[in-house]
Amino acid sequence: MTANPPLIQNLLARRLPGHSLEQPFYTSPEIYQFDLEHIFYKDWLYAIPACQLTRTGSYVTLRVGAYKVIIVRGRDGEIRAFHNSCRHRGSLVCKAREGQVAKLVCPYHQWTYELDGKLIWANNMGADFDASKHGLKPVGLRNLEGLIYICLSDTPPDFETFAQSARPYLEVHDLKDAKVAFTSTIIEKANWKLVWENNRECYHCSSNHPALCRSFPLDPEVAGVAADGGVSARLQAHFDRCAAAGAPAQFHLSHEGQYRFARMPLQENAVSYTMDGKAAVAKKLGRVALADAGTLLVFHYPTTWNHFLPDHSLTFRVVPISPTETEVTTTWLVHKDAVEGVDYDLKRLTEVWIATNNEDREIVETNQQGIFSPAYAPGPYSPEVEDGVVQFVDWYAAWLERALVPVQVAAE
Ligand code: FES
Ligand SMILES: [Fe+2]
Repeated sequence: MTANPPLIQNLLARRLPGHSLEQPFYTSPEIYQFDLEHIFYKDWLYAIPACQLTRTGSYVTLRVGAYKVIIVRGRDGEIRAFHNSCRHRGSLVCKAREGQVAKLVCPYHQWTYELDGKLIWANNMGADFDASKHGLKPVGLRNLEGLIYICLSDTPPDFETFAQSARPYLEVHDLKDAKVAFTSTIIEKANWKLVWENNRECYHCSSNHPALCRSFPLDPEVAGVAADGGVSARLQAHFDRCAAAGAPAQFHLSHEGQYRFARMPLQENAVSYTMDGKAAVAKKLGRVALADAGTLLVFHYPTTWNHFLPDHSLTFRVVPISPTETEVTTTWLVHKDAVEGVDYDLKRLTEVWIATNNEDREIVETNQQGIFSPAYAPGPYSPEVEDGVVQFVDWYAAWLERALVPVQVAAE
């Protein structure tokens, strides 16, 4: 399947501002392929928290579209990423989703790679064989304050601008001291953009998320940031209190709209995402001194949104699987010395977002089903409570338009 730039160009040219996208953006294999080639195969993607790889030789495997990747912790403690394709005849080297190994051994003919990707053993390859030319192909990787990002492109775009903006917000959360308390992976039968659109609004929250609404506020005075970045006096006072306590909070949306930070208040009397609003973990992760600092909301298109709380942190990873399937992985991070059953109860820690994820899966899949109808036509987003969705689709459309320029030139 190859992408069809003229089709995409025409659809973008007639796009109605402030409206949902036309059906092919949510269903077409060609546009899905274009999304992969020009967004997911080119940009930096959130992969895992670094603390998920606890020991030497710990690895995870990841699929992004057609690519398969291994992320592994080496003997020197460094985390590296490689294409999961043997340099002999291309077999997957690691088949499991995660594990721990002394060496990376291909299951086909046992070519054996060091944890830094060097080929160290290949039997019967003749005197002229040069092992040094057959190491695993590296994948770009950055460790941002304990969050591992990868880039599949051989010419990765700038990461440092995002990293510099993110560091002041993230460092107080001490993710280097974290451990994974729980991970959940679900497949949502919907295009990846519907997953994002749903994430970028809480118009649906009061009627769909009873557990989340116990701690997450819907009042725009408390939770709202205007499309132009303007905030209420009450919200600004919250930002200022957090900043004075050493936890940067100010709303910051990047120039091209790809990422955003804001430390938003929770419901009054709520300090964490629990059914009673009380802290989920007694031994806190991070140094946020204000118990009611709320949740540091970070998104970075196209693969991650996150919540960093005073007691624990949550990362979400969004990976497209097919035109109408998206994998969403949620990871709950707590302090590495927090003991389950003593400092936290796993059910209490995870139940709000497990319920919320399932509710979101249901509504996003139902959204996709309705969009499959020939009668579907783009509808208007609410200017009052869906401005985040408008921001997402505008970012997406602008990205595609930029990607189409070289494609069009090459075709001429
Ligand atoms: S394909 Fe990996 S050793 Fe042959
Ligand atoms: Fe939701």
